[in-house]
Amino acid sequence: MTLRRIPRDQLRVGMYIHAFEGSWFDHPFWSRNFLLRRECDLATVLRSDIATLLIDTSKGSDLPLPAQAWVETPDQDTRTPDEKTAAATQVVNRARDVVRGVFDSARLGKAIESRAVTSVVEEVVASIENNRHALLKVLRLKKKDEYTYLHSVAVCALMVNLARQLGIDEQEAAVLGTAGLLHDIGKVMVPAEVLNKPGKLTAEEYVLAQTHALEGYRLLVEVDNLPDTALDVCQHHHEKIDGSGYPHGLRADQISRAARMGAICDVYDAVTSNRPYKDAWTPLDAITRMREWSGHFDPQILSAFMLSIGVFPLGTVVQLRDDRLGVVIEGGRNGTRPKALAFYSTRERMFTRNELVVVGDERSGTAILAEVDPAAWDITRGRIARLVRLGVPWV
Ligand SMILES: [Fe+2]
Repeated sequence: MTLRRIPRDQLRVGMYIHAFEGSWFDHPFWSRNFLLRRECDLATVLRSDIATLLIDTSKGSDLPLPAQAWVETPDQDTRTPDEKTAAATQVVNRARDVVRGVFDSARLGKAIESRAVTSVVEEVVASIENNRHALLKVLRLKKKDEYTYLHSVAVCALMVNLARQLGIDEQEAAVLGTAGLLHDIGKVMVPAEVLNKPGKLTAEEYVLAQTHALEGYRLLVEVDNLPDTALDVCQHHHEKIDGSGYPHGLRADQISRAARMGAICDVYDAVTSNRPYKDAWTPLDAITRMREWSGHFDPQILSAFMLSIGVFPLGTVVQLRDDRLGVVIEGGRNGTRPKALAFYSTRERMFTRNELVVVGDERSGTAILAEVDPAAWDITRGRIARLVRLGVPWV
């Protein structure tokens, strides 16, 4: 028997429920332990007040681990950093020119060349695979007049990178990359004065800017062989989980996973870029603030996104490969590796001696596998806050 305690919202069909935690009467099933086979039973648990459950991973499926642990794959690439940057710059420049061509065609009412789009996405997918750090770094540097095009390329790359983290296969990752590349194409129908206006938009200008989601959909629906996902992301990347987004005010489950991914990649790239009206936020500031906007993003996808770019806000609780939990006490600013205080053994289910660890590569025991909710291990937020206070002076 291999038991694992999980919060209710991580339960999936195929898991074997060993026990519901809390009183017998708190859960709506006749049996305490069974293999969860039916979606309707899953829905019943998700609607219930049960906070945590024990699953037996020897009788049913386990929590999905991210396909790829953070951080870098041990580097067998012999290129120098300068050579990697040069290669990434070439990919970015080619992609930027294709996007510019696609946007110009759309502006002039000409047909969009889907073959050119496909080849750019293929290059970005390959570059995420073999040169991701350099690619993501180059994409953060945007000249003012190229912002819209480079933002499109950046969202494409971030989508592919996030797809990899979520364990999505390469073909689907390329579809998501295409969606990222074209998500803002409707901006060609919005006056440039509105798009580039320094300062706050008036109510009318805001309405005009918002039309880009549906205008983009109208443009893309004309393109042959474009996957539906691209139309969906274009139309719905400004929807929010709490229903306050646009254009349709969709809520949580009404928004596809692709559109929820698009929303995160879009905002992250926008806030980490220099714009005429504001300075860029650092990646760490961006992630920290985006996690505070409750109701905006899908929290699980945001957590995967955080792992995909290797940025961890102070106080994030993480599962380390060596079966320990750690709390991040330094997020890895300025290219240094994040540091965590390891404090709990998930195998022994007990607190251990605190140990300061530098987050390692994916083969090492200190690689971060996932973000975890400390409540699932009966660890209070107060305890985490104390650990953070304890750890910080050592950094
Ligand atoms: Fe947009």
